[in-house]
Order: sequence, then structure tokens, then C-alpha cells
Amino acid sequence: MRNRAAVGVRDNDRVSVDPLPVALDVDTGIDDACALLLAALHPALDLRAVTCVGGNAPLADVVRNTLTVVETAASVTDVYAAVAAGADRPLLETPVDARHVHGDDGMGDLGLPGPVGEPAAYHAVELLRKTTVTCAAEGRPLTLVPLAPMTNVALFARTHPEAFARLGRVVFMGGGAQVSNATAAAEFNVFHDPEAAAIVLDACATLGVPVTMYGLDVFYAPTVTRTAGRALVASGTAVGRLAGGLIEFACRRFGAEEATIGDAGAVASLVVPDAVRTERLPVRIELSGTWTRGRTIVDTRGDGVDLTHDPHGLAPALIDVCLGIDGAAVAALWLSTIAGEWS
Ligand code: RIB
Ligand code: CA
Repeated sequence: MRNRAAVGVRDNDRVSVDPLPVALDVDTGIDDACALLLAALHPALDLRAVTCVGGNAPLADVVRNTLTVVETAASVTDVYAAVAAGADRPLLETPVDARHVHGDDGMGDLGLPGPVGEPAAYHAVELLRKTTVTCAAEGRPLTLVPLAPMTNVALFARTHPEAFARLGRVVFMGGGAQVSNATAAAEFNVFHDPEAAAIVLDACATLGVPVTMYGLDVFYAPTVTRTAGRALVASGTAVGRLAGGLIEFACRRFGAEEATIGDAGAVASLVVPDAVRTERLPVRIELSGTWTRGRTIVDTRGDGVDLTHDPHGLAPALIDVCLGIDGAAVAALWLSTIAGEWS
């Protein structure tokens, strides 16, 4: 738990009276790093645990990158989040990565010194179980934020359903109602491990855990300019150099003057929920389609749908699907938090 008394390490400290306990499951990753910094630094959030999974980069790189980010954040505020390694490959699918996007080291090839610390000696699933039970016992149910392939989360759900049922909410970055990226049908996190995504939606529906899907329909909207990235680097703080370096790398990689903060938007939606428009819709994962494997099938037919010809019926998983976002507001929140002007 964050030591609230220690949070006052910045001039304009405003401590949230009851920060939301969160755990992030990451494949750090440029935008996962942006999300981790927001979760660690914003006073409305209490980052309790970080679990790592292979995805954007191989697991060992993800663990190293994640420890580096958490340690960088810990240089300016108290954050006691344990970091644990989890699955190094999907449940069934052949592993792939996205180093062509995130850099050879998976986090912008910034040439940062390696982390000082080590991951926890126990598996990510055990960290998720312990953290969930602890937060539930405190009367402050944990919000789990998967920002990667959901292999760890699926293993957690199937290994410890009694603990999984005590989660407050799952807010996952993945899928898309109308947008895809890995294939014409699928978003990378779900594409990487479709079975895991299907298991997580099934477990949430069965165990009564509310779910929000922060998908590609909103993912690309919050962007930060290359100029703002340069200013963060010029600030000279460790957090600014890291965050700004990531933005600059992403702009260079795509030859653009702005970069999405991607996963960070899912975390921001916990702080500024009014910045996101959601609809509660049935969602299922395509596991067998030749061209559509890994698609999140978001059923937008609405109430009173005629199921006469539908042999499948409505998906059991009713999910709050993010369909609109105030990208500028989310980007401003991220920038102000990184710059130390918590709001
Ligand atoms: O499709 C975008 C997602 O895939 C993000 O979580 C990004 O970090 C990658 O994991
Ligand atoms: Ca990610």
C-alpha cells in the first residue's frame, strides 16, 4: 500500500483521501510504461501490484522494463507495488512479439541502466491472488487492469476462482468494436492469446466481476506531441526523461509529430471516468474463425434484438465497452501527472 504520508514529495502534493487500489498486468512496452507511470504517480490511484506477461517483448525484457519504470516512479513518490513474472507464452497460440513497434528492448531502446531490484520470487498468479484477497479484506476491492495478453489473468481466474470473484472490476485494454490492428479482425492483446481473453470474459460473467473493455475504438485518441515529449526530457527529472524519451521514440518510429499513450488511457479512465463513453454490450471472443480468430465480437444489436435466426444467442459476458473518449483530456491528465502537477 502506498505510504500516503510519503506522497508529499512534490510541491503541489494533493493526496487523495481514499485512492483506488489497482494492479496492472503488463507487457512493457512503450505504452504500458506510460500507463505504469500514471498508475504509480497519480494520487487517486494506489498501485498495489504489477504482473508481467510475454507480449510486446519476451517475458524477461518485460520484467526488466517494468522494474525500470516502477523504480523510476519510486524515485519521486512512494510506491510499494510488487512486480512478479508470469506466463512467457500464450495458453495455446504460438508466441509473437511487437518489438518492431516498441524497439529491440521492448521499451524504446533508451539505453537506460538496468533496474536495481528483482521480481518477486513467486509467480504473477500468486501476486494477483494475494493482492486481490488483501484488498477485499480491507474493504477496498482491487481493480485489475490487464494491458497485455490476458494469459496471467486467465490462469488466475481458473486457479483461484474464489479469489478472482473478490475483484472489484476488470478494466482491460484489448479488442475493439469497430477497430483492429494485429489483423483485419483482431487487436494485438486478444490476438496474442484469444483463449485467455475468452476465459477471462467467461470467468467475469460466471463470478460476477464487472468488466470494462478499453479497446482500439478509444485507444489511439489520447496523444502527446513530440514537442511535449522533448519538454519532458528537458525537465531533467528521471520520470520526465523516461516518459519523454518514450514519446520521442514512438514519434520517430512512425514518423509522426504525436504518439498515442495507448494503455495509459485505460488507467486514466479510472481517474477521469467521465472522459470515456461506454455502452453495456454482450461481447464474445472468436476462437475458430479463419480470418477472424481473436476478434472481440461486440453485439450492438441492442435491446429487443430478434434472435429468431441466431443459434448462438446473446453472449453471457455483458461488458462496459468504451466507444468514445475525450482524448485531449486524457492526454492532459497524463502529461500533468508526469510533470508533477497532479490533478
Ligand atoms: O493493441 C495494443 C496493445 O498491444 C497495447 O496494450 C500495446 O502495449 C500492445 O500490448
Ligand atoms: Ca500493452
